Amino acid sequence: MTKKKFGVTHVGDEVTAYTLKNSSGAYVTLLDYGCTIQAICVPDRDGKLVDVCLGYHTIEEYEQNDSYLGAVIGRFGNRIEKGRFELNGKTYEVAVNNGPNHLHGGMKGFDKYIWDVLTTDDSIQFSRLSPDMEEGYPGNLAVSVTYRFTEENELVLDYQAKSDADTVLNLTNHCYFNLSGEGSGTVLDHDLQLLSSHYMEGDADCLATGKVLDVAGTPFDFREAKKIGRDIGMDDVQLKYGGGYDHNFIIDSKAYLKKTAVLSSNATGIRMTVWTTQPGVQVYSGNVLTHRQGKTGVYDPHDALCLETQHFPNSVGKKEFPSVILKKGEEYSQLTVYHFER
Ligand code: BGC
Repeated sequence: MTKKKFGVTHVGDEVTAYTLKNSSGAYVTLLDYGCTIQAICVPDRDGKLVDVCLGYHTIEEYEQNDSYLGAVIGRFGNRIEKGRFELNGKTYEVAVNNGPNHLHGGMKGFDKYIWDVLTTDDSIQFSRLSPDMEEGYPGNLAVSVTYRFTEENELVLDYQAKSDADTVLNLTNHCYFNLSGEGSGTVLDHDLQLLSSHYMEGDADCLATGKVLDVAGTPFDFREAKKIGRDIGMDDVQLKYGGGYDHNFIIDSKAYLKKTAVLSSNATGIRMTVWTTQPGVQVYSGNVLTHRQGKTGVYDPHDALCLETQHFPNSVGKKEFPSVILKKGEEYSQLTVYHFER
């Protein structure tokens, strides 16, 4: 583990970059700002390190970041209809910051805070106390995300939380992957397999309606690996709404740690397998990733894929889905593993 000053925010707070390197030389760099994955450098088929995650070189860019590049999302990943939910008979209102709905924790989500840090030789734990009613969410929430990077090139994210009152919680990470290398252009030529037979319908604002759809016979069928771009242009109302893929897939496996996705690039030979304890994954093909300068090149729509492991969006109070309620004193615990091979 090494650490280095990354920059200073516009209000004068210092941001630090932490690097976890394994004995092969592969490494990940993490920021205490937003608990952000700033770089993932793993070997390609020739052993050359390739940075497979989109990001920036300066804190200013992260502060202006409207796309959550690499950040942890909280308290609630994805949308909540009209920013309103009921819990224990009480209605809570959270920010409406995405059309008519709430998105990714509100105006100042977990991605915009500097987290406390605890480091060991091979792990970094970021933590913060999210106070009662922060962004409208009840309960003082103690939350931590621990990153480890193993000798096998597995990036492990371990999420823990506890609240002093009943609340709702849906944490995820919003890393944008491009296995041909960040800044190298589109990921529509990447092969993607999703171990999901069902996904959730979105409305015109990409809000999950709660309706579960079968992938069979649709462009959403990734059960056999196919190019992300193969069907993305098909005449399908769900693809039109999102401008591509922006949907929650329901993971088929009921195991504790479930394999959910395999993404690979022909250009580098890098393959990433995603494992998670979560029941779903938001598959987002960077549809509204507006043109911008990134670390080594410009980024445009579809230049990355997000695989945001999570509970189902807009599912507060929907009894048919896995509960997103965190009861007072209960331990919240979720694990996601991104495994890079070549
Ligand atoms: C959402 C998209 C949204 C994006 C913002 C994704 O998780 O599903 O609808 O535009 O985040 O960067």
